[in-house]
Amino acid sequence: MDIVHEPSAPVPAGHTHFRRLTLVRTLVKAVSILVLDHLGEIVPRVELVMLDEHGVPRFERPPGRCLRRRRTLADMVATFDNIRLIGPPAADGDYIALNEHEIVHLHAYPQIYAVPGLYEHVVQERLRCRSPQVAVEGFLREMTRLAIEPSSTTVLDIGSGTGLVGELVRGGGVASVVGVDSLTEGRIACMRDRPGIYTDYLIGDLGSRSGTLPAQLRGYALGGLISAGAFGGSHAPPAALINALSVLPVGAPVAITIDERWMDSSDPDGFGAAVEQLTERGDLALTERKRFQHRITTTGEPIFYDLIVGTTGG
Ligand SMILES: C[S@@+](CC[C@H](N)C(=O)[O-])C[C@H]1O[C@@H](n2cnc3c(N)ncnc32)[C@H](O)[C@@H]1O
Repeated sequence: MDIVHEPSAPVPAGHTHFRRLTLVRTLVKAVSILVLDHLGEIVPRVELVMLDEHGVPRFERPPGRCLRRRRTLADMVATFDNIRLIGPPAADGDYIALNEHEIVHLHAYPQIYAVPGLYEHVVQERLRCRSPQVAVEGFLREMTRLAIEPSSTTVLDIGSGTGLVGELVRGGGVASVVGVDSLTEGRIACMRDRPGIYTDYLIGDLGSRSGTLPAQLRGYALGGLISAGAFGGSHAPPAALINALSVLPVGAPVAITIDERWMDSSDPDGFGAAVEQLTERGDLALTERKRFQHRITTTGEPIFYDLIVGTTGG
């Protein structure tokens, strides 16, 4: 960080305002962390960041005001070489260090999406995530099997993030994609990095009982559903899948990827039970279920997901 300028004038003895400024400047020299400001732009904020013996960050905010400076894109891109993967993932998952002092959780999407290319660099390149490709390939296979013409189909992508799935499925010939994500930062990043890929990108949670999203989505004449890495755990719940299927016509192709841990059908609240119920009720006919390596952890262990492919029933 290069944002410290010590005052040239001496600090008057007993002047609390100047004493506080001096304290803040000292801390800025030490550490900082990335946060989003109210405009959705990434800025450094003063934080003490310490790791415990497992490499898990503990955040302790110092007293006094935060000192902020806008960070440019050039600043951030230059830091990609310094990014470190922090592991082993403790109970709450993977972390990455953006540089010596700035540490974020892998699911800190607002912070990560705010930096162009950062999500792709860490998740796709460093952690070798394959879910978008596997989901899109499964989806296109199902379209072919159903003899549906991609160039006349509008597809729903749940948990669109920065738009990787939309880009791939459009590359496969699909005419139009409507994205949904719970985070405005996803839409901002997608419009910034992949403009024109999505016909529309809505913000909301399809799992919410009170939401208006299903009604909005019915207006798009959707002909398929695709989702990569957006279901389960801290992400979208089974209700989001059920609600998403309810806005599709009968005979629509579906391809989703879900962590195999959430597919354990002995968990009544998990996706395994939900998928079983959907198939028993005839709302979804499965044509493919395949285990694959979704990505690796920050310490290189494989994480396995299930690819679920099928067709909506009625
Ligand atoms: C691991 S990212 C995957 C992004 C994209 N599908 C990809 O493969 O690159 C998961 C995304 O799901 C979104 N998400 C999490 N919970 C959600 C929910 N309840 N409804 C919609 N999106 C959600 C997150 O905001 C995040 O953008």
